[in-house]
Amino acid sequence: MAHSSVTIRVPGEPERGYEIRIGSGLLGSVPSDVAEMLPGMRQFVVTDVNLVNHGHLAAMVGEGTEDVYVIDPPGENSKMLSTVENIISEMEQKRFGRDSVILALGGGVVGDIAGFAAAIFKRGIPCVQIPATTVAQADSAVGGKTGVDSELSKNAYGTFHHPAAVFIDCSLVKTMDDVSYRAGLVESVKHAMIADPEYFRYIESNIDMILERDEAALHHLAEKNCGIKGRVVEEDPNEKNLRRILNFGHTIGHAVESLSGFDLLHGEAVSIGIVGACRISQEMGLVSAEVTECAVEILQRLDMPVTITGLKKASVMETMKRDKKSIGGVPKFVVLDDIGTVHGVDGQYAVDVPAEIVEKVLSALDAK
Ligand SMILES: NC(=O)c1ccc[n+]([C@@H]2O[C@H](COP(=O)([O-])OP(=O)(O)OC[C@H]3O[C@@H](n4cnc5c(N)ncnc54)[C@H](O)[C@@H]3O)[C@@H](O)[C@H]2O)c1
Ligand SMILES: [Zn+2]
Repeated sequence: MAHSSVTIRVPGEPERGYEIRIGSGLLGSVPSDVAEMLPGMRQFVVTDVNLVNHGHLAAMVGEGTEDVYVIDPPGENSKMLSTVENIISEMEQKRFGRDSVILALGGGVVGDIAGFAAAIFKRGIPCVQIPATTVAQADSAVGGKTGVDSELSKNAYGTFHHPAAVFIDCSLVKTMDDVSYRAGLVESVKHAMIADPEYFRYIESNIDMILERDEAALHHLAEKNCGIKGRVVEEDPNEKNLRRILNFGHTIGHAVESLSGFDLLHGEAVSIGIVGACRISQEMGLVSAEVTECAVEILQRLDMPVTITGLKKASVMETMKRDKKSIGGVPKFVVLDDIGTVHGVDGQYAVDVPAEIVEKVLSALDAK
């Protein structure tokens, strides 16, 4: 299948952009493509043990490469400063210098860690993102946010470091387990709901192909997701207003994710949050019930939860107040005027919602 590409401008630097190449089976040519883009740069790969076991590392760089750091155990528990330090010290021992580039092959965890390591190694070297999960391909590989967690909170340390390029090989997600695959698609639904009604209809009509991991469908999703996220980030690099629309579904989502003790996957929690945000939009008189129904239907097709089971309304309210995006203890919500259009008040897209409405919506979501 033909490859395509989307170019994203780096915010604040109009002359600098980076290319996102999208295709199936482009993994094997990434090292030579990067060598062409960044001639003379030594390449160091950061990945995790699952990518190695599924054969993706070998498919990219061949067997037996030594210029690689394999994160083990994989996943959020390794997203900490000591992993970044280990990567950097490995690079130093192998005498990598400023003329190096990090290739981040993996999900959002690998991308965030490797991007952060690249941002601080020798005061900053380029990072190329090769996202391998539905979350990373739709969301984390684009936008330049990098970082790691502290003992106390997620993404406590980090910086913006825009990638030098992104290679999205749609075939990589075929080895993902089913639940993570489907949960990662919730960010695609989110993108469609905040920016593009046609994209929403596309997901609705092609859901079976998407669930079968059809490459043409995944290619279309990648183009849409990168286009939407890229545009939003370009227009609002510092997260003053427009970028907030990317938090659609995340106010209730983050609260239920954290209250579940992270038993819920991020995408599962955001699924509940999206339904909540639609219901709030409905209660505010902005959208008809049909919008909520469409959201519920598509999320149920992905087998995602659409109600809060077992959580108390009061604890969800309390957790939302403590969210870092709350202002003065009042949680902010991104709500819709329609599918594809976020409601703005004086150019702000995260708005106050009366507590009665939020409580009513939490009850409708089945909170106790
Ligand atoms: N920087 C951003 O803008 C941004 C945006 C969204 C999320 N994130 C971050 O991304 C992380 C979540 O990303 P994630 O869901 O990709 O998690 P992840 O990177 O932990 O991947 C999930 C699991 O899937 C495995 N995996 C990865 N690719 C695979 C493949 N192709 N086949 C089989 N298994 C594979 C991983 O080893 C891991 O066990 C969080 O830390 C979150 O904070 C960052
Ligand atoms: Zn999210």
